[in-house]
Amino acid sequence: MASKWTPSSWREKPIVQQPDWPDAAKLAEVEATLANYPPLVFAGEARRLTEQLARVADGKAFLLQGGDCAESFAEFHADNIRDTFRVLLQMAVVLTFGASCPVVKMGRMAGQFAKPRTDDFETQDGVTLPSYRGDIVNGMEFTEEARRPDPERWLKAYSQSASTLNLLRAFAQGGFADLHRVHRWNLGFVAESSQGEQYRELADRIDETLGFMEACGLTSETIPQIRETDFFTSHEALLLGYEEALTRTDSLTGEWYDCSAHFLWVGDRTRQADNAQVEFLRGVKNPLGMKVGPTMEADDLIRIIDLLNPDNAPGRLTLICRMGADKVEVKLPPLVRAVEREGCRVVWSCDPMHGNTVASSSGYKTRHVDRILEEVRGFFAVHQGEGTYAGGVHFEMTGQDVTECMGGAQAITEHALADRYHTHCDPRLNASQALELAFVISDMLKDARQQNGGSRIRAVS
Ligand code: PEP
Ligand code: CO
Repeated sequence: MASKWTPSSWREKPIVQQPDWPDAAKLAEVEATLANYPPLVFAGEARRLTEQLARVADGKAFLLQGGDCAESFAEFHADNIRDTFRVLLQMAVVLTFGASCPVVKMGRMAGQFAKPRTDDFETQDGVTLPSYRGDIVNGMEFTEEARRPDPERWLKAYSQSASTLNLLRAFAQGGFADLHRVHRWNLGFVAESSQGEQYRELADRIDETLGFMEACGLTSETIPQIRETDFFTSHEALLLGYEEALTRTDSLTGEWYDCSAHFLWVGDRTRQADNAQVEFLRGVKNPLGMKVGPTMEADDLIRIIDLLNPDNAPGRLTLICRMGADKVEVKLPPLVRAVEREGCRVVWSCDPMHGNTVASSSGYKTRHVDRILEEVRGFFAVHQGEGTYAGGVHFEMTGQDVTECMGGAQAITEHALADRYHTHCDPRLNASQALELAFVISDMLKDARQQNGGSRIRAVS
């Protein structure tokens, strides 16, 4: 039986992947300040997302989650937010139209700042300093001053999240996402690519369909879904002091919500059942994610699922699997079987990024588009084999023309990585690579849904 939960009960639990804050008084002061700031999202929005994810759990919709590995203060600009949002819209329309499947859209945006790291320290030329842990903790520059953890950064991260969210809401609901603009989402370097051409053809068909619907009296005025979309935010709940400060009771239900984002996930390094992160997340009502890597054992998985979703509510929990292309077909089936055996209602999503990171010969952290695709294919194949539903994908991506992942139709070579390598942490797909993957996944999804009669084949009790 779990002990009583409070927004601060995580403080009694073991915790890893935390910076060594040099000034405890300053940390407490920032926590108190943040606790008085307005919430960034509302409980009703988080509930709406849970309902949409419940449809994914039932095989009736698909989840698209994507954005930066780590948002940064330096790359904070309206154009960057717009471009990532735009490519997510393009991907969503490809998936929706190609596979006739509603798509739940979620950004790794407006709060994705804190990073777990493999090593606590980094050494360069004989100098050892604390590792960079994301702009909410310290600076990337390799100096003692920049690397010193500073809680003042939380306030800047909060304010950047608020502005980002404000713009995302305006884009989602203020006309930018109107399906009549489907051609105009295809701009810049993507329009010149072969994916851009493929996208133009699809957009022509959507235009034609909208024309037909309009003739039947179904217009933007009568159907709000044509002129606006739901867009949700998410990030890893790593810095629990920050998350606690933004956790509030919902006046309607009296339940606790972490109002820093609609959806929070626990990372692969911090998901142990007795850990602080699992303790914190079990008590908030937001829909949750859990990263599931190749070291996860079936028994542990079921134990953590029971902690995070004791009511077995569909939509509450998304398992974001990140096995690696070479491991997914071996590691995933036993987990899927255990979840099915226990009758757990979860969303299965595929993060084909984090199990496929390699170092290039010149020292860049990179990923190959072919390996990314191979993991997605393996993920779909496992679910096809088990009779379960491959419900979503999770990408590190940007709307910019970066050169961080190799391959794809642009055939980015190892040599070209240096051209525009801007990420603050892991390598991201650029807009053209992301769109390319959306087309391939759209075909996989269409096939899977046709074979399963448009829904999961196993009856749920
Ligand atoms: C991430 O999503 O950026 C991340 C660190 O993932 P994981 O916890 O799966 O390693
Ligand atoms: Co990452």
